[in-house]
Amino acid sequence: MAEVEYAHATCLYPGNPVPAVDSLDLKIEDGEFMVLVGPSGSGKSTALRMLAGLEPVSSGAIRIGGADVSNKPPKERDIAMVFQSYALYPHMNVAENMGFALKLAGVSKADREAKVVEAARLLDLEKYLDRKPKALSGGQRQRVAMGRAIVRNPSVFLMDEPLSNLDAKLRVETRANIAALQARLGTTTLYVTHDQVEAMTMGHRVAVLKDGLLQQVDSPRTLYDKPDNAFVAGFIGSPAMNLRDADLVPGGARLGDLVVPLSAEVVAAVTRDGLSRVTLGVRPETIDIAEAPTGLLMKVELVEELGADAFVYGSIPGDPDGVRHLVARPRGGILPRIGDSVHLTVAANAAHAFHPDTGLRLG
Ligand SMILES: Nc1ncnc2c1ncn2[C@@H]1O[C@H](COP(=O)(O)OP(=O)(O)O)[C@@H](O)[C@H]1O
Ligand SMILES: [Mg+2]
Repeated sequence: MAEVEYAHATCLYPGNPVPAVDSLDLKIEDGEFMVLVGPSGSGKSTALRMLAGLEPVSSGAIRIGGADVSNKPPKERDIAMVFQSYALYPHMNVAENMGFALKLAGVSKADREAKVVEAARLLDLEKYLDRKPKALSGGQRQRVAMGRAIVRNPSVFLMDEPLSNLDAKLRVETRANIAALQARLGTTTLYVTHDQVEAMTMGHRVAVLKDGLLQQVDSPRTLYDKPDNAFVAGFIGSPAMNLRDADLVPGGARLGDLVVPLSAEVVAAVTRDGLSRVTLGVRPETIDIAEAPTGLLMKVELVEELGADAFVYGSIPGDPDGVRHLVARPRGGILPRIGDSVHLTVAANAAHAFHPDTGLRLG
């Protein structure tokens, strides 16, 4: 068990003046499941590999259990890593694959077997211990890769997109299993994914990275409800939050014919900064289709019916920001059809506002 701390940790790759990870400050508590999420190329794998000792820490430090490990080789860090490609040894059976690191570490055969059997029980792999990897399904291979990490009983688990080779249904199942397993073992975990749904469903806290820079680290709920900037607002949530430039008018921000009210905090921030417009953020589920023909007129361009949910996409006639579609999740029963015109309302106290230049949250 251990806490992990990145302190101004930076990674510069040779030949590139822009850091892949830029002065990262992040503390992962003992036993915490921390998810690192961000678009491709944002530095997630680099940050994880720095902790593993596979990439150098160019400046700053990384601490595990309070001890500076920045210059320690991987094997002295007491971590175990699960990669996207499971890289199982094809000529070894499941038990041998899972016990191999212990064998290298000189653990006795009896102890090895006991640990492998215990991990196999946790992972529901007991029936497959004699099988070779090629005789396993993708999900079973993924569990063997997990098993290899578990038997070592490390202080920290590191996982880099471990579910990306699984199909969608299995991914959902497996993410729940990994979260449950982590809760049971209580091992400090850093989990990397580009998938915001995975991040939100698995992490105790989620750290959002963009261009090597940490944007926000918070509980899934707080990230969703109070994104620190327009990037996080647009990245977390599916379909994404509607974000668009809006002029400030008496009573709020103008969205087509609609004036969307802003909170007193936003109004105070806007006044303080002397702004005449904001980046307005409205989540789809806070936009509804009005029964009466009043509100924001939208021409429907796409209707997505998903069973429990339905999303309606469209454009606002005469909208200067016309390339951006608006997405609504109406609560009512009857959905419009493509080509229909509908009137939209925005729920009270639902709008977010961000600085139009810096993207920082206002209020
Ligand atoms: N070995 C490397 N040498 C040089 N640049 C690299 C190397 N690995 C990654 N990068 C660059 O560092 C940035 C972050 O990459 P990475 O950590 O792999 O991002 P992510 O895992 O979020 O997709 C990218 O711009 C990538 O091109
Ligand atoms: Mg990566």
